[in-house]
Amino acid sequence: MEIAALAALTLLLGALVILVALAVGRRKEEIREETEQAAEFAAEASAVKGSQSKKQKQEKQRGRKDKPTQHTFSHPLLAASLKGHSGNVTCLDFSSNGKYLASCADDRTVRIWSTKDFLDREHKCLRANVELDHATLVRFSPDSRAFITWLANGDCIRIFKMTKKDDGSMSFKAAPEDFPQKHKATILNIGIAETGKFIMSASTDTCINIWDLKGELLASINTNQITNSYAAISPCGRFVASCGFTPDVKVWEVCFGKGGDFREVVRAFDLKGHSAGVHAFAFSNDSRRMVSVSKDGTWKLWNTDVEYKKQQDPYLLKTIPCSSSEGSRVALSPDGRVVAVSDGCNVAMYDAASGKLEEELHGVHSVEITDLRFDINGRFLVCSGDKAIRVFHNAPGYRAAIKDMQDMLKKAQNEAMKQRLQQQIKEAQSALDAVLAAPSN
Ligand SMILES: *[C@@H]1O[C@H](CO)[C@@H](O)[C@H](O)[C@H]1NC(C)=O
Ligand SMILES: *[C@@H]1O[C@H](CO)[C@@H](O)[C@H](O)[C@H]1NC(C)=O
Repeated sequence: MEIAALAALTLLLGALVILVALAVGRRKEEIREETEQAAEFAAEASAVKGSQSKKQKQEKQRGRKDKPTQHTFSHPLLAASLKGHSGNVTCLDFSSNGKYLASCADDRTVRIWSTKDFLDREHKCLRANVELDHATLVRFSPDSRAFITWLANGDCIRIFKMTKKDDGSMSFKAAPEDFPQKHKATILNIGIAETGKFIMSASTDTCINIWDLKGELLASINTNQITNSYAAISPCGRFVASCGFTPDVKVWEVCFGKGGDFREVVRAFDLKGHSAGVHAFAFSNDSRRMVSVSKDGTWKLWNTDVEYKKQQDPYLLKTIPCSSSEGSRVALSPDGRVVAVSDGCNVAMYDAASGKLEEELHGVHSVEITDLRFDINGRFLVCSGDKAIRVFHNAPGYRAAIKDMQDMLKKAQNEAMKQRLQQQIKEAQSALDAVLAAPSN
């Protein structure tokens, strides 16, 4: 009993590392990494500044007649607005080492932002140029040393390697050959499995293609969902899932042999329960929870921690009414505690356990939201739409973590554990207070 409780506490504390990290000073390793990262961003940052001031001058010269209208937005939870792109941002992705956020836009660039300076005044970014084309989607490789893009005109995947120059700064190099064109309809999403074993691309017809890393087509899945609206690889890298016109989310396993050779794609399980088409879905970071948002006006939380090979089905944990529309996106915080749903230019944040609506963010962008994600530590929620990327504090996540600790405190029997929990709650609360007190930009 005591051991189980201790194990639970250890788990909980693990999940709370983010809160403690705020309160406790930085370790040596982090300082080394930071120095390294400063070098990576040093050379390019000045280049971006240079081009920005040139652009500002050009904008000034254009005169008052066609002055671009700036969308203004403020909210107490807004931590930062990342500005650098000169076109609408269509896709965001965090690297699995937590250091970078990638974004792409129709301005022919992919930007790599440093997550460490989200709370600083200046937000450094590196720029990768997409020659003679632009990227509509971007995803980091599992080792955070490369990223894949979907080319709007090329209609195919291009890989970029991130290489360190002698002075420590970063440069980008496109792979010599793009992947072959295989999709007949508009692309919806791409991804690389965390295992590094395959790449996925999905289009608005019923096609999902599975590739090896060299651009060899391994398999083509017909989702049979009439049209696809979203598809993604699970964070564990085992599954590919899709949703669309039909009221279910379908999940496949991409199977490899012991030697790493591709075997087959097999149906794993379905999420059944919505009464209309599904706009989008998302996974928790351990792939044990999924959330889906549907045309039926609800989001649903699922337990997908099942052994489908033993005929176990995932089960429904929660159904909560929400506003959604064609193009809605959904995000689940890494720890599964917070659900975020976009509807047009708005975002709603819910406590996953209670289903309570925690935050409403209205008019976050001047155009429909194109992407919505939590960072890997669950500290921030980011979204894109227009030229700026909005970064929000995940306050509902902090509150949910505190609530879980308070529940544990009520059940705690041993005095040492009680004191420990009380201390943790105090620290978490002051971290949350600090987040909320910080001036937003
Ligand atoms: C961004 O998208 C909006 C709406 O689709 C469009 O009116 C605007 O021209 C786009 N901006 C840029 C810079 O492409
Ligand atoms: C998931 O996220 C939580 C909270 O940020 C973290 O403690 C945990 O290690 C992550 N798990 C995986 C499998 O990445």
